[in-house]
Amino acid sequence: MIAPAVWALNPGNTAGWETLRELRNQCREFMTGSTAWITASQQEDFRKNLEDSTQKVYLVVEGVCSIAFLYLRLDCATGEWIPTYGVAEAKRGLGYGKFLVALSQVLCERLRLKVLQTNDRACQLYHALGFVVTTQQNGVKEMYWERP
Ligand SMILES: CC(C)(COP(=O)(O)OP(=O)(O)OC[C@H]1O[C@@H](n2cnc3c(N)ncnc32)[C@H](O)[C@@H]1OP(=O)(O)O)[C@@H](O)C(=O)NCCC(=O)NCCS
Repeated sequence: MIAPAVWALNPGNTAGWETLRELRNQCREFMTGSTAWITASQQEDFRKNLEDSTQKVYLVVEGVCSIAFLYLRLDCATGEWIPTYGVAEAKRGLGYGKFLVALSQVLCERLRLKVLQTNDRACQLYHALGFVVTTQQNGVKEMYWERP
């Protein structure tokens, strides 16, 4: 893996959001929430309604290509951040997922996420980077990490 760059998307302008949509749609079958295809107009609504203090979006860039995304949402009730990680289909298994999780662990003190039990690659990744399973039901594991 080449050392990638990280680009924080700005909800105040449109650059990068279409790329985020493409990357998210490539990952949709692995999502524990909605697996629906996101349209361009839905993506625009998402951008316009983003709350800067509780939602963050980053793209991982290799050369001129964006190859992965990290979306973070703050659960205001618990102070935990809920991450979503996604790597472009053609770039999986090359270490970018590990990079994304490590990035979120630098940015956040506490992380909670849900993952499909069948998503072996993601489960192994989270386990290897210190997440523990807190609950497991209906084919979904909830996992938690906090900075030591
Ligand atoms: C899950 C995902 C983020 C992991 O990113 P990745 O770049 O493919 O993974 P990495 O190359 O960083 O691998 C990290 C670890 O995952 C595990 N892993 C990688 N490839 C794997 C495979 N084919 N099978 C099982 N585990 C695998 C290994 O533990 C690996 O660590 P190692 O290289 O030290 O052995 C990425 O595959 C992805 O975006 N998948 C689709 C969307 C998704 O599942 N998002 C998460 C929803 S909860």
